[in-house]
Amino acid sequence: MVALISRAHTVTAAATLNRPSRLICPCCNDRLTFLSNPVYSRFSIYSGEKELPVSDAKMSDMEVVHLPDGGGNTLKALKYKGRLWPAFAPESIRGVETFKSRDGDAIVVAYPKSGTHWVWEMTRLLQAGKTDVPMIEKDDGMIEDVLPEKLESQSSPRALNTHAHFELMPKEVLNKKNCKLIYVTRDPRDVAVSYFNHHRKLVQYYEYKGQWKDYFPLYLSGKVDYESWFAYTRGWEQGIKDNPDLQVHVTSYEALHENTNEEVKKLAQFLGASTDETFISDVVKMTSFDSMKVSKGKNETFKGKDQTEAPIMYRKGKVGDWKNWFTVAQSEQFDETFEQEMKGTKALQLYSNQKGFSGPDSNMNAK
Ligand code: A3P
Repeated sequence: MVALISRAHTVTAAATLNRPSRLICPCCNDRLTFLSNPVYSRFSIYSGEKELPVSDAKMSDMEVVHLPDGGGNTLKALKYKGRLWPAFAPESIRGVETFKSRDGDAIVVAYPKSGTHWVWEMTRLLQAGKTDVPMIEKDDGMIEDVLPEKLESQSSPRALNTHAHFELMPKEVLNKKNCKLIYVTRDPRDVAVSYFNHHRKLVQYYEYKGQWKDYFPLYLSGKVDYESWFAYTRGWEQGIKDNPDLQVHVTSYEALHENTNEEVKKLAQFLGASTDETFISDVVKMTSFDSMKVSKGKNETFKGKDQTEAPIMYRKGKVGDWKNWFTVAQSEQFDETFEQEMKGTKALQLYSNQKGFSGPDSNMNAK
């Protein structure tokens, strides 16, 4: 018998580690498909095998949806109360609403692909006050991807993260205001490219095989898990404005690139952590892209299929990669939508072409 542990389920199964097997989870009776990864086993009840039904009783409030792109491919997501989430375990997604916040919790809040892994790693090292800490994954602290009892069992101070829109944040977090929120933004064009690669490579969640040209309108219209970047960003800006007593630290992927030391120091101050110069520069080193790609990348659950490929969560780590992907037409369409959607927002000031982003290169390829 081999004990297989995933974030969402604990299963004991007579199975070899690399043989896909169908299992019933004893903690929730969901049927599981074992997605083999010999080191970090992960289960999904929504694996590529569509015939695997989830019991109606458990799923009466949720539905698996396949969002069509313009080229005949679909992207799989989970619809819960009308909102799109990744196909995580239903118990974890439901758990967002009832999440119990604690004094001292730090929660990194960001639209997907905005640098969550990076900032979460900084946060947990700063909280620990040292860089010599056991390796854990950012997803171990992801509120919508971890069962509530597992989150409860983590000791304080917890380093957590979520991609939830402001209005979908756990009620306790918004009402008690006892958590420290770190809100991270990133140029939505770089987010688009990063999210496309994420959706393409995480086959076990998304089953997505589309091309960039067909993905682009899907992203622009928010027909992806966590929906529209524009709505997400407007919601958080407004939420922060309307709730001045929430403890929020705002940073951006670009600022973190440009002045990493300074940004880490500001984060340390916000968290009440040590700002000792040597400590800060150790945190900066330990959380550099090259360092995390090796130290975390080899352990993170999701690697490229080919082990020589960059780990999915540590793809390129640059500012402005969108220029290698957007066509002139896409760039123009993006600008138009961006300006319409983001009128009067800080994000528009930060990321509009007039403010430092010069527009597409002439040698852009049309993927
Ligand atoms: P790219 O796909 O553009 O490379 P998230 O953590 O929110 O999923 O965001 C992932 C993006 O952050 C990816 O962007 C990834 O490469 C980048 N990233 C991850 N760790 C990083 C680090 N330490 N420094 C800079 N970028 C990092």
